[in-house]
Amino acid sequence: MKVLTVVGARPQFVKAFPVSEQLSRHEEVLVHTGQHYDEMLSSVFFEELPIPDPAYNLGVGSGSHAVQTAQVMERFDDVVDEEAPDVVLVYGDTNSTLGAGLVAAKRPVRLVHVEAGVRSGDWSMPEEVNRVLVDQCADLLCAPTDRAAETLRAGDVRGDVVVTGDVMYDALLAVREHALEHSAIVDSLGLTGESYVLATVHRERNTDSEDRLRSIVEGLASVSATVVLPAHPRTVAALEEYGLYEEAASALELVDPVGYLDFVALLSGAERVATDSGGVQKEAFYLDRPCVTLRETTEWTETVETSWNVLVGADPAAIRTALTRPLPNPAAKPTLYGGGKAAERVVRALSHPSAATADDD
Ligand code: UD1
Ligand code: UDP
Repeated sequence: MKVLTVVGARPQFVKAFPVSEQLSRHEEVLVHTGQHYDEMLSSVFFEELPIPDPAYNLGVGSGSHAVQTAQVMERFDDVVDEEAPDVVLVYGDTNSTLGAGLVAAKRPVRLVHVEAGVRSGDWSMPEEVNRVLVDQCADLLCAPTDRAAETLRAGDVRGDVVVTGDVMYDALLAVREHALEHSAIVDSLGLTGESYVLATVHRERNTDSEDRLRSIVEGLASVSATVVLPAHPRTVAALEEYGLYEEAASALELVDPVGYLDFVALLSGAERVATDSGGVQKEAFYLDRPCVTLRETTEWTETVETSWNVLVGADPAAIRTALTRPLPNPAAKPTLYGGGKAAERVVRALSHPSAATADDD
């Protein structure tokens, strides 16, 4: 079976590597859309992780949602012509996911969506639009949870729905030990274990509003612990545009984005996590790190229901209160997103959708 895997943004490199490992008995051709292109948002992941080198880089780069999606469509269409794959495999909820998904939907090729069925219910987020549309187009929907699968079935999707668990958990399990042994980042930043907060901010709603970004900086700066913030380039640009950069840099430990191994080491050593990322909310949960989410909604609703995550939006007082709340009990933490065999199930489902259930966790 020939599988054309499409990635383009940082979290997709992480999601793709455990699945690529399981695809060894098939022919996988990796397509990088080029949505992310900075060394620390892209090539570092290919250097650190066993992902095949991209056979194509579509060079899409940055742009409006419309331009980015349209360029992925136009350029990916040619690759489908050239490669004639049996399967197009897409991950998550980015513009790269949507562009490639729409191309595949109008071709005689099976579209497989990994991380299908998760919903924040917030239609103003571009990612929610992308998720819902790709789910409608997919022939095989790999849901990380039973809830996501129920959402899909209730939403009348036409593809096969399989509960696989979360491939990001597989990724984390695969690198965690190596990251802890080899990453020097915690020491090099002068941090001591469990005495700092790890923060990330990149969501459009937070970076594109001066008020929200200012409030987030204020909230993070108000806690007594060191706050380490590996800053996405759009966040740096926004801080500079609003004249907030100096204030943020003096109150927080602002660093460049880090590679996955360093990020996992930072997460493992953090006392708390504050983020507007989707993936980081789950990774905090997997590593027993209490999370404060700088958004009003989340697609990872189970992390909130189990008290490991609190939604605080951009309110400084709420951020501060949530970052000092009592820690949940790790012994009482349920397994929510599969047992680390999601990638295996995704690949099994490509051949036999009905055989790939999450029951053997
Ligand atoms: C994208 C995804 C988001 C995902 C995130 C992962 C969409 C709609 N958004 O958001 O779901 O959570 O990736 O990190 O697909 N930039 C650089 N260098 C790069 C890439 C981007 O400087 O290598 C800057 C550019 O100014 C660009 C901005 O960041 O305009 C935003 O990049 P873009 O890919 O559009 O969205 P992200 O915020 O990265
Ligand atoms: N990540 C990383 N370095 C960083 C920040 C995040 O390697 O400086 C990883 C993180 O471990 C997770 C993924 O990138 O696996 C999350 O990406 P991001 O937050 O950009 O996107 P989202 O998950 O919100 O779509």
